[in-house]
Amino acid sequence: MFGSARRRPPKGPSNRQLANTLKAQGPREGWSKIISTYGPTFRLDASLVATCDPALAAKILYHRPHTTDRSRLHRSMATALPGLDGILFKDHDPWLQRIQTLMPALKRSKVIPYAAHIHTLAMHQVERGSGPDLAGVATALGQAVFLDHALGLVPKHPLGKALTQWLHRLETPQDRLDVPHVSLRRLARLPWYQRALKERFEQIEALVAAALPNAPEHCWGRLLHDKAGLDVTEVTTELTHIYWAYDAVHYIMTAVLYELGQRPKWRQALRQELNDALGQCPHPQREDKDKLPLCHAFLHEVQRRYPATMGVARKLGEDLSTDAFDLKAGTEMLLLLYPLHHDPERWPDPEDFNPRRWLDRPGDGRSAVAFAPFLHGPRRCIGRYLAELELMGCLNAFVRHVDLKVYNDDIPMTTDMIPRFAAPIPFQLKRLEPN
Ligand code: HEM
Repeated sequence: MFGSARRRPPKGPSNRQLANTLKAQGPREGWSKIISTYGPTFRLDASLVATCDPALAAKILYHRPHTTDRSRLHRSMATALPGLDGILFKDHDPWLQRIQTLMPALKRSKVIPYAAHIHTLAMHQVERGSGPDLAGVATALGQAVFLDHALGLVPKHPLGKALTQWLHRLETPQDRLDVPHVSLRRLARLPWYQRALKERFEQIEALVAAALPNAPEHCWGRLLHDKAGLDVTEVTTELTHIYWAYDAVHYIMTAVLYELGQRPKWRQALRQELNDALGQCPHPQREDKDKLPLCHAFLHEVQRRYPATMGVARKLGEDLSTDAFDLKAGTEMLLLLYPLHHDPERWPDPEDFNPRRWLDRPGDGRSAVAFAPFLHGPRRCIGRYLAELELMGCLNAFVRHVDLKVYNDDIPMTTDMIPRFAAPIPFQLKRLEPN
């Protein structure tokens, strides 16, 4: 309890002002203007406080009471539309039931043996040659991994197409769920919107119901059904939900290829490192980790520069005080990942894509969270190891077997809370002589 002397963070922009600033100036200039005007922590509305203060972020992410109840934002998204109400939006027993089932299957030791299969899938994309959009490569690769893990299906199974259309419905600019000034409730009230998503969800459910009995026991669908005891509708919801999470993989993988395609010197350096470290072995193994510092630095820098979301929501479970503010239990928080990853004090010249900055970085420790692409603490991403394996597998295939070029190094980004490339990225692949 703080009594009447409670210190509040300064009032920041309204949601609409925030959206307009980002839209008019883009994320780089926009966030920098907002943070320099209001400081690293400010009120967005009566009960929502935004922060990119790394010490405060660490306090919130690591302290279990602040992760126990899901935020208002999570709740409103969960129930707004069919197919969304999955694990990320759950708390208490329904969350435990799902996390305890899926987490063991996504441990580092469980996913590492999958590297060979990811390599095969990445090589299929390499074989397809040049194309009109790098995002198509990333989506096809991510989707193949998803279908295999979810239900043991091959990429051409119709579920892939149905999921793509479902996600497209959520992500097309006029339909996006995360535009700050468009109320989710308003969107969800539109009957045609609800209807279209419901129909698509029912198609997906029929495909899941047909695939489930033949799926291998270790697949996410079977685990959720057999071990967590979810019915087919709930399993379908979890799978569409995880596929939605997969959109982050597609985005980051596109960014890896995009940065690679602009940087001949890095392509050369990474190729040399991979060839020296792996010799005749087609893809990296666990024991190669220390032999690939440049590859890891490159992937870290992509994840710093391209956080999959501008911010994540949390709800304080206890009162929390910093040197400057007192925040009451129940306060809704928005942790701003983009500004956190572009703080000039921690990341000199933050807009420069400079993987070398990682080579002598000792790590951020637990005292402050300056880099959090998968978040930290009890509600961190459970797909991190699989995602990292996919990113490395993709990098390895596209560096060692082809020379990748993009023609446009100035692709704009969308300015929504979930940023994405705003235009297709045409690319050229030139086969390399075998090493
Ligand atoms: C580069 C790729 C990825 C990034 C950047 C990413 C990022 C994140 C972030 C930031 C969160 C926390 C969101 C929040 O609390 O509001 C999260 C949660 C989650 N992610 Fe990922 N993710 C990625 C890949 C994946 C993959 C491949 C899976 C599939 C297994 C996955 C499954 C999940 C799930 C189930 C949660 C919710 C966990 C919970 O609430 O306990 N993610 N992810």
